[in-house]
Amino acid sequence: MKLEPCTEPFWEFVRALRTDPRVIGGFIETADVTPEQQKRYMAAHWQNYFIATIDGVPAGFIGSVDGDIRVCTHPDFQRRGVASFMLRELMRRFPDAVGKVKMENEASRKLFEANGFRPRYVIYEPDQQGSRRCGAVPND
Ligand SMILES: CC(C)(COP(=O)(O)OP(=O)(O)OC[C@H]1O[C@@H](n2cnc3c(N)ncnc32)[C@H](O)[C@@H]1OP(=O)(O)O)[C@@H](O)C(=O)NCCC(=O)NCCS
Repeated sequence: MKLEPCTEPFWEFVRALRTDPRVIGGFIETADVTPEQQKRYMAAHWQNYFIATIDGVPAGFIGSVDGDIRVCTHPDFQRRGVASFMLRELMRRFPDAVGKVKMENEASRKLFEANGFRPRYVIYEPDQQGSRRCGAVPND
């Protein structure tokens, strides 16, 4: 397994995985991203993102944006230590980064706890059943 810089050839992999219905529920932000939006975003942030590859095949991405960890493993490669590998590597580069995790995201919570992270804060928000706005602070 290798950790590679998130150069332009990987940007579409990140977008496709980030919006894959099999994983999107794990994220706090679930907005759709167009290829054009992705290009603009990645042009600004690619140096904060990394790709795990296995025999040259991209298996997951990790990034730290404003100190927040963004991590995802492709469903074909989950439960093989890919995210743990990426997290260890990221923390060598961004030692103060933190994970913000939905309460119900058991896989992510276990990932962080298995790698030495401990929960410190909880965000309370009004109960908005059926809303896609999970984890966001409501507007006035
Ligand atoms: C969370 C996620 C990144 C974990 O990726 P992964 O490569 O499968 O994780 P690892 O193989 O490194 O697993 C590390 C540990 O996390 C825990 N874990 C991972 N997936 C799990 C699952 N589905 N259920 C329970 N625990 C899980 C286990 O403790 C695991 O160690 P083990 O396999 O030795 O028991 C992956 O499930 C994912 O991409 N989810 C969707 C996106 C997401 O939720 N991202 C996080 C946003 S904060």
